[in-house]
Amino acid sequence: MPVSTERKKILVFRELPPDQLARLQARHDVTLANPRLAEQLPAFQAALATVEGMIGSSYPVDDALLARAPQLKVISSVSVGVDNYALDALAARGIMLCHTPGVLTETTADTIFSLIMATSRRIVELASLVREGRWTRNIGEDLFGRDVHGKTLGLLGFGRIGQAVARRGALGFGMPVLYHSRRPVDLASQAPDLAGKAAHTPLDELLQRADIVAAVLPLSRETRGLMGEREFGLMKPGAIFVNGGRGATVREGALLDALNTGGLRAAGLDVFATEPLPMNSPLRLHPKVTALPHIGSATFETRHAMAVLATTNLLQALAGERPTALFEGSAS
Ligand code: DGY
Repeated sequence: MPVSTERKKILVFRELPPDQLARLQARHDVTLANPRLAEQLPAFQAALATVEGMIGSSYPVDDALLARAPQLKVISSVSVGVDNYALDALAARGIMLCHTPGVLTETTADTIFSLIMATSRRIVELASLVREGRWTRNIGEDLFGRDVHGKTLGLLGFGRIGQAVARRGALGFGMPVLYHSRRPVDLASQAPDLAGKAAHTPLDELLQRADIVAAVLPLSRETRGLMGEREFGLMKPGAIFVNGGRGATVREGALLDALNTGGLRAAGLDVFATEPLPMNSPLRLHPKVTALPHIGSATFETRHAMAVLATTNLLQALAGERPTALFEGSAS
């Protein structure tokens, strides 16, 4: 395909760092409009009619939205997850979808591991004891936590982020790791540092054996609602559940039942079926839940790296080049 230098219309639908916005503005005609802000929604909708490229995240790009964007050729998502996009409609229209794998792996694994630590050692609950002036004597057994080191870690999902969490557990904390994924990973060739330290395990067996189960799953037809009443029922009494993938892979009612009347000790959640978490969600103030506002990749360094990669992807696609990180299965 010949490289194009023609200026094209681009819609930026969430904030980008100024240096990345400047890269786009130097080459193309940019409309900035965040559809989550009521005052910018009309500009967003008007721009759809003529844009060839879009860049942003955390907004559903569904069939109806795509129908209003007849010139659209490429969407560059500032995220690794692509569950906000109508993949079938994009494929049918030959619209490219790019994303940001790789650059957020370690940061997201850090977040997930911090939830493992926080839930096991009751960090948030005990820190509030100090903050609220309730530390009036040495704590007793009623406030003791559970060790993390040496415990069995069960990972649901074993892509880049799952493997990075496994590394933290196996190499840093001496944890035997079980993982559940569609196919076993050839550790000797793909992740030699985990060879002999992580075992592909059927879902039910993993749930029965793990002390800590961490979900690191993308949202797809196969993973939606994967963790339900039956699955939580299989977990060990006193086990901990962490979710750093997508909220809708968990049936939240079943999770609540497992916390309230089942044997689940605690849950650490960075993602929810509805985000931001509704004020009336029983998970918000639940004493056994440590809830974060979807901060998996939210550090200065990583969010900037994601913006750089997403901007590069978009510029490449609009120039007629193959983007660095085209979503697998996307039109090319
Ligand atoms: C992603 O990139 O999909 C993450 O969920 C953002 O934190």
